[in-house]
Amino acid sequence: MKASLKDELIKAKKGKYAVPAFNFDNLEMMKGIIEAAEEEKSPVILMVTESAAKYMGLDYVFSFALTAAKNATVPVVLHWDHGFDIELIKKAVDAGFSSVMLDSSLKPFDENIKETLEVVNYARNKGVDVESEIGHVGGKEDDRNSASNGYTNVNEALEFEKQTKIDALAIAIGTSHGLFKGEIKLQFELLDELNKKIKTPLVLHGSSQVPLDDLKKAISLGITKINIGTDLKIACAEGIKKWFNDNPNGYDARKYGRNAVDFVKIEAKKKIIAFGSNNRA
Ligand code: 13P
Repeated sequence: MKASLKDELIKAKKGKYAVPAFNFDNLEMMKGIIEAAEEEKSPVILMVTESAAKYMGLDYVFSFALTAAKNATVPVVLHWDHGFDIELIKKAVDAGFSSVMLDSSLKPFDENIKETLEVVNYARNKGVDVESEIGHVGGKEDDRNSASNGYTNVNEALEFEKQTKIDALAIAIGTSHGLFKGEIKLQFELLDELNKKIKTPLVLHGSSQVPLDDLKKAISLGITKINIGTDLKIACAEGIKKWFNDNPNGYDARKYGRNAVDFVKIEAKKKIIAFGSNNRA
């Protein structure tokens, strides 16, 4: 069933777990995510980035995602992830997504507030929740590369929350997007302070390759939504590679595709269990 981001994150905050937010780039990844959530009885956030939507085709991705949410036996939040283009964000709102994220985190503070308010005003009227980012999680996000990683400033985060009244706040505490992260050193003291001062549910981006114990600690300090992209892309690719390794003359897309679904499902289940969202649906 389609679910609301705000409701699921409020429940997670009370229950002291995090809702897994998984990116999908193709049907196999989407099926693996939904099957994992159903088998573990977990709420799940199904996310699409702009470039993934362009790859799959906007209309296809909207109908895939809406059908998955409608048919699922667990709550599925349909989330437009890392929207840079406000016109595309509005299309996701109009298509019936549960929530949208605007990423204007590299823009000056005032501009970030102004653009976030534009999205909030548009989305709220249609019952759609909004996430925005303060500070900047760098690395390879979608098709963009950004070297900079600016930790979230607590006073800026407070001001941002006050002015925009967003439903979820993405913060930068030491993760980065993609595979090559260098040393991962999460700023737990900063997270603790943000959690004590900010009421809005907090979101951790760039969470692939981060040790699960670090993610568990981040949950204990108030993170309620954890974004995972790269680890599922790797699982999907590994599933296909393994199938061709075992079946060098094979060609049936349904068979190597099914192996990709199974590998994605195994990886998604590991995260669900670590985040404590199993049996919370
Ligand atoms: P990773 O690819 O590093 O997991 O980041 C995904 C993400 O934060 C999507 O918003």
